[in-house]
Amino acid sequence: MQKSTIKEESSFQLIKDSLGKVILDLGCGSYYLPYFKTKIIRLDIRKEVNPDIICDVRKGLLLKSKSVDMVYCSHFLEHFKKTEILNIFKEIHRVLKVQGLVYITVPNVIWAAMQISKGIYDDYVNKVLYGAQDYKFNIHQTGFTPKILEKMLLESGFFKFSTTTQFYNINTIAKKRSL
Ligand SMILES: C[S@@+](CC[C@H](N)C(=O)[O-])C[C@H]1O[C@@H](n2cnc3c(N)ncnc32)[C@H](O)[C@@H]1O
Repeated sequence: MQKSTIKEESSFQLIKDSLGKVILDLGCGSYYLPYFKTKIIRLDIRKEVNPDIICDVRKGLLLKSKSVDMVYCSHFLEHFKKTEILNIFKEIHRVLKVQGLVYITVPNVIWAAMQISKGIYDDYVNKVLYGAQDYKFNIHQTGFTPKILEKMLLESGFFKFSTTTQFYNINTIAKKRSL
């Protein structure tokens, strides 16, 4: 999807906290997080985007427990069924160190609903709801609102949410809670 300025904004937030840390970029696509003095592990199912780890996250993350300081997922979770997302959150919780953070950006279906209620159904609305559909995995299976995202994170052992919305995106940062 078109990202507007979201990467720049959330990148800024990450830079402040990321020096010397290990960041896992889940479903990295062809994107490279722009950090130095930071170990970035790029993970994706598609080898053509040159990830460090090629894996299907539905089968688990191929990483040791408590080995990562931050997990970054941008325009990724909406590509899975709800049960799969809860399993992905369990895996994120497992690989994160104590006090680890997860940074999530997902499309906001409330934004799409508001556009539709104004009589607007353009390509952005269609992509928010159904994905860009330009390659095999680029289809959406779950719609998020800020509340739904926070509820799923809470159920999966995360807390201290900071959630904002920008254009069609929801951006949430949450902290690992000990279970
Ligand atoms: C819409 S792209 C987002 C890419 C990047 N994070 C960004 O914001 O530009 C979603 C990514 O998730 C990856 N993906 C989809 N299903 C996956 C799976 N089961 N396991 C791992 N990666 C997957 C796709 O290959 C794709 O690169």
